[in-house]
Amino acid sequence: MKIAIMGFGVVGSGVGEVVTKNQDILVKKCGEPIEIAHILDLRDFPDSEFRCFTKDFNDILNDPEVGIVVETMGGVNPAYEFSKKLLLAGKSVITSNKELVAAHGTELLQIARERNLNYLFEASVGGGIPIIRPMFSCLTAGEATDVFGILNGTTNYILTQMFQKGETFDNALRAAQKKGYAEADPTADVEGHDTCRKIAILSALAFGDSVLTERIPTEGITKITAEDVAYAEKLGYSIKLIGHATKAEDGGVFAAVFPAFVPKSNPLAGINDVFNGIIVKGEDLGDVMFYGRGAGKLPTANAVVADVVDAIKHKGVNIIIKWNEYKPENQSEGKLQKYPYYVRFSGKAVSGLEGCQIVTFDEEEYKNEFAVITKPMTETALGEFVAGVEGMGGKALGKLRLIGE
Ligand code: HSE
Repeated sequence: MKIAIMGFGVVGSGVGEVVTKNQDILVKKCGEPIEIAHILDLRDFPDSEFRCFTKDFNDILNDPEVGIVVETMGGVNPAYEFSKKLLLAGKSVITSNKELVAAHGTELLQIARERNLNYLFEASVGGGIPIIRPMFSCLTAGEATDVFGILNGTTNYILTQMFQKGETFDNALRAAQKKGYAEADPTADVEGHDTCRKIAILSALAFGDSVLTERIPTEGITKITAEDVAYAEKLGYSIKLIGHATKAEDGGVFAAVFPAFVPKSNPLAGINDVFNGIIVKGEDLGDVMFYGRGAGKLPTANAVVADVVDAIKHKGVNIIIKWNEYKPENQSEGKLQKYPYYVRFSGKAVSGLEGCQIVTFDEEEYKNEFAVITKPMTETALGEFVAGVEGMGGKALGKLRLIGE
């Protein structure tokens, strides 16, 4: 099978490495050798062992011998246009591009289905963790109620370095970039956009309806303070950047991205460094958990190449992955969604906070502040609660949701 790679960055070059180094294993697994016929990239790679670089997409599109194309370019454009053209030309496409799958997956999957081709994206969520396949294959018999987890390796690496080693945010981010974990623009990692795209994909797979990333409330990790970390530690929580999709009380699906207090008793709390962890809850199933390296060259490239093998095994047969087109009424605003919250206030602990756990510390630096862990409440109710406490003299200094109790 002749394949092509579009985008020779961290993941694309990893695909080249895995295909070359594991050729014997791959022949055993799919029955034929995999040959890389073209690599599309605008940059030059004079030191590469590969001699098939091109800067012209048409070299791939018009090569009748290329049956599968790996898209590891990232971003929506021109990856969308290229992927669509390739599928329309009868080539299967394998991608690690979560931004593209989240934005145009519905359409690209349909084109693949109509032409008995495959559009596969195991590497788009969770790096090397097999999560996409279980979602559309093993976990389809019953109704899912929740999917939530740590979906971004860079932020989990940063939080771990900050918590465990006292590292600064900037140094930890630089180290994550050096290790090849971060997006080209790491804002997408630290502001939660990468997690947002991934939870959009998982939500569509779990609940069967496309959701718009623009409508997913998304908050990253940049506002977390050393004080939040100290309270979390003292109360027995970790702070993790969480993507959550759930069946909302108004009938739609609510998806959101937020940093959260996760109790140490929950296995997600112990997931550190670049590792990701995802919990899927089902009516019949109970909890299922997935864990592994969520970013990095070779783990992600392994997921891509496994998709190539699957596409070879399914030549002329579409592996059905399906979710419905976006309809506004299927995506909830989450107005009725309840979470417990941690809120930190300045001032002295006030009375009359029924149902809340009030936390104060003896240390001098925490003398003029307190925190509360609330009962589960909607965001509107939280706003009223905070206004009430502020009316009694406190001032809210920070708040985070709790998940995984
Ligand atoms: N920047 C992403 C992360 C890469 O850190 O998780 C894998 O999707």
